[in-house]
Amino acid sequence: MSALAIETHGLTKVYGDTRAVDGIDLSIARGGVHGFLGPNGAGKTTAIRMLATLIRPDAGTARVLGRDVIHEADAVRSQVSLTGQFASVDEDLTGLENLVLIARLYGYRGAAATRRAADLLEAFGLADAADRPVKKYSGGMRRRVDIAASIVATPELLFLDEPTTGLDPRARNEVWDIIRALVAHGTTVMLTTQYLDEADQLADRISVIDSGKIIAEGTSSELKHSVGAGALHVRVMHRDDREAARRILVRELDVTVDTANDPQLLVAALDDRSRAMRALTALEEARIDLAQFALGQPTLDEVFLALTGHEAERPDTDRPEGTEEAA
Ligand SMILES: Nc1ncnc2c1ncn2[C@@H]1O[C@H](COP(=O)(O)OP(=O)(O)OP(=O)(O)O)[C@@H](O)[C@H]1O
Ligand SMILES: [Mg+2]
Repeated sequence: MSALAIETHGLTKVYGDTRAVDGIDLSIARGGVHGFLGPNGAGKTTAIRMLATLIRPDAGTARVLGRDVIHEADAVRSQVSLTGQFASVDEDLTGLENLVLIARLYGYRGAAATRRAADLLEAFGLADAADRPVKKYSGGMRRRVDIAASIVATPELLFLDEPTTGLDPRARNEVWDIIRALVAHGTTVMLTTQYLDEADQLADRISVIDSGKIIAEGTSSELKHSVGAGALHVRVMHRDDREAARRILVRELDVTVDTANDPQLLVAALDDRSRAMRALTALEEARIDLAQFALGQPTLDEVFLALTGHEAERPDTDRPEGTEEAA
């Protein structure tokens, strides 16, 4: 038995002019969660679809749980499961009907199929909704039933493609708990996400992918250290106040405060929220009017910028994620 869950060399998929996955080398150990982090169009879904044997690579090799994805595709398929980016259960069937159907496909007979389905609904907090059609479920319930559907036969390796995109924080936490429970039972999880905080919460190690290439690998804290901590962005209302504001921030925060090209902007590297709030209070006491302030984690864009020297190709790069703002 191979010690590695996933091992690829030069794995490539090309669509016309797009090198969706452009020669990636991965060595992912068994156990735990491996995060696959990247922006829209980075190649995450394409990569995991090749690993799950749903599409055929154009070049390179990939072994999943020791088996070759092309020559031993059936063996791979019997041990892995994929929860796609878009829901795959039947909307018109109830949660219970969906899971019973899948349990039968996996060889559970009669009452055993019903029992397996009912156990999963219970474990995922969906017992009360068992007899409701899935189209009446909330987004969070949908994701839970999707994940339940992909573990009816407990897989060695589970691919989860953006399992929490579009969910509110509570539903997202529920999905995270489910993933942690699966890992505690020995399943290896490969998780794609666009969110640094999600990878942070769940992943033991992370591969960052951009334009089909792996641009960084490591633990979450290794990646963060490579990009610095968070940042406080402050824009003063009147540009004449900027120098005074800078001195106050330096005094309150005890870090260097950069002045950007924007004559009203100040940026301080910082991830301590309480200190940031004290600094803002000090600015207010000095009667410096603020046009805007924001405190954020390093964004995926900042990670990208630091790792690649170029911004992720997205139009909306002007504001950090998870920021607070005042007008
Ligand atoms: N079937 C296809 N035909 C043509 N191009 C494709 C196809 N699938 C993916 N692509 C292209 O390959 C690139 C990678 O797409 P992919 O879906 O793997 O990205 P992703 O990282 O999963 O993005 P997202 O975060 O938006 O889900 C994109 O440029 C996409 O347009
Ligand atoms: Mg995708």
